Amino acid sequence: MSQTNKPRVLVTREIPEAGLAILREACEVTVFSSERQPTREELLALLPNYDGLLSMLIDILDRPMLEKVPHLRVISNYAVGYNNIDIQAATELGIPVTNTPGVLTNATADIAWALLMAVTRRIVEGDAYVRQGKWVGWSPDLLLGMELGGKTIGIVGAGRIGLAVAKRARAFDMNVKYYNRRRLDEETEREYSLNYVDLDTLVRTSDVISLNLPYNQESHHLFNADLLSRMKPTAYLINTARGAIVDEAALVEALKKRQLAGAGLDVFENEPSVHPGFLELDNVVLVPHLGSSTRETRDNMAILAAENLVRALQGQRPHSLVNP
Ligand code: DGY
Repeated sequence: MSQTNKPRVLVTREIPEAGLAILREACEVTVFSSERQPTREELLALLPNYDGLLSMLIDILDRPMLEKVPHLRVISNYAVGYNNIDIQAATELGIPVTNTPGVLTNATADIAWALLMAVTRRIVEGDAYVRQGKWVGWSPDLLLGMELGGKTIGIVGAGRIGLAVAKRARAFDMNVKYYNRRRLDEETEREYSLNYVDLDTLVRTSDVISLNLPYNQESHHLFNADLLSRMKPTAYLINTARGAIVDEAALVEALKKRQLAGAGLDVFENEPSVHPGFLELDNVVLVPHLGSSTRETRDNMAILAAENLVRALQGQRPHSLVNP
């Protein structure tokens, strides 16, 4: 506790004021920086002085780190994904962990669709073509892409974001297949016009594959050389989930061999570094983990993360607790 008797919380990066205001009402708040995340050493040095932590998805809170800060009364992660935190270790140490589901569903589904449209209709290539002064006039075969109507999108991971991607697919007259660890109930399948298939069928028959599953040991490099080789050579892969679900070296090779037509990637295994092979390919659209980056969504994430943190510190159940 601080001199004001308010709990002390560390926010590792500047978040929108909407969230900071909630925190300041109930806590003494320190924002580490608006420019960069704290290093592991900096976090370790700081955390003994705080009761709660509001972390970003780039703050690695693994077991060795958590074992040094068992006094923490809550970790509120400013993201829906929480693979940056060892949940089992946090649970064993009695540290509640929260995330921000729901509020970023539409923004993330939108970015999946932005990538899908950009890569299938060659938007980035077209933009470069115009800027580089290569355009000499309309041409019947200039930068031909793939029509979406009547094609099949395969959604891997049918949680909130996967379903929001599916909902958008219907507006484009696409057939929607999905694969999920657990099959959804009939009513949801009907509501979203979803066909459940096994992963192999989804990979072999989809014209676009959208990855919307959480990253964990099971999904690590799920899309490896073998699975990628089973995609249609005319198909596209969209990843807005986590980079390490895809074996990036294998994807670069598969794209070079034209085992698939292209990819749209928002996430990377070793962010912010990007496999250099992608940078040489025209048929890949790359964006820097922008899934939740709309002003509205970031405000709502800040509010939810702040409320989660305050509730935990006040002994109430947070809105979105991750620990089992
Ligand atoms: C998250 O919050 O986990 C996502 O990566 C948003 O893009």
